[in-house]
Amino acid sequence: MKTFTRVRKPHATHPAQEPRNATRPADTSPEQRRAAMARRIEVSDLDIYYGDFLAVRQVSMEIKANEVTALIGPSGCGKSTFLRSLNRMHEVIPGARVEGRIVMDGQDLYAPHVDPVAVRRQVGMVFQRPNPFPTMSIYENVLAGMRLNARRLSKSDADAIVERSLRGANLWEEVKHRLDKPGAGLSGGQQQRLCIARAIAVEPAVLLMDEPCSALDPISTAAIEDLIQELKTDYTIVIVTHNMHQAARVSQETAFFNLEGVGLPGQLVEMSSTKKIFSNPDNAATEAYVSGRFG
Ligand SMILES: Nc1ncnc2c1ncn2[C@@H]1O[C@H](COP(=O)(O)OP(=O)(O)OP(=O)(O)O)[C@@H](O)[C@H]1O
Ligand SMILES: [Mg+2]
Repeated sequence: MKTFTRVRKPHATHPAQEPRNATRPADTSPEQRRAAMARRIEVSDLDIYYGDFLAVRQVSMEIKANEVTALIGPSGCGKSTFLRSLNRMHEVIPGARVEGRIVMDGQDLYAPHVDPVAVRRQVGMVFQRPNPFPTMSIYENVLAGMRLNARRLSKSDADAIVERSLRGANLWEEVKHRLDKPGAGLSGGQQQRLCIARAIAVEPAVLLMDEPCSALDPISTAAIEDLIQELKTDYTIVIVTHNMHQAARVSQETAFFNLEGVGLPGQLVEMSSTKKIFSNPDNAATEAYVSGRFG
């Protein structure tokens, strides 16, 4: 199977620039590979625009490797906009752009030579509503991201990726006997786990999740939350959630975004350990938000 070299070395080539046929060194264990894969992201002075409209202003934060970072804040404060800027999905909207820096393990994701498609392969995304391709089989849904990346796969490689990804998304046992059936035939919670399987099939280092449980029932939500806990061993995860209990349950770090007023840009008010944000935040607005007194 073709993949990126994961061994972290000083001045290592950034994955976004690595040749497509780079292979893993044979002496690297899965544990070493996973450790090398996890990415730390540093955001500095980020302004995010839709045309002339400054939607999010002056965000600086560190997203730690192998941890879950929750983004919370009232509607319209720019959580989704900020999340999409982390894998260069923001700029697919005409006129949308960013100023500032997002650096992943020493490389500026917005540097001129960096391919946004390669960034999106490294920083995968799971959306609010499960969005499997409805007529495509479960099997092909898992491989859809790889096919987009024009990867040619042997049948045995494809089978292995499908099984690994579905196991990684805690879905394998439920679907292994019906891989040829359409993705639309799964429950909402299963569909969301299928989307997570599709995201991890391309072996990203970071997973972005925008309210991944908001369309799910409590049991499916619990399944996804359990899965997030398992996934953080292998991935750096950033999750947007309106559910304060969920943020407290799944994340180690929490960032609170807020708006100073209608029409004004959203901004990062405070970021700290989840424990501190929910027990003793520095900012009164954070306290009010997490305790449900506003937002
Ligand atoms: N495609 C777009 N074009 C122009 N403005 C947009 C676009 N998408 C979002 N915005 C604006 O950017 C600001 C931030 O929106 P965003 O969707 O990021 O907020 P959010 O915090 O994710 O809100 P919610 O909690 O409701 O999902 C809002 O003022 C919104 O109207
Ligand atoms: Mg949003």
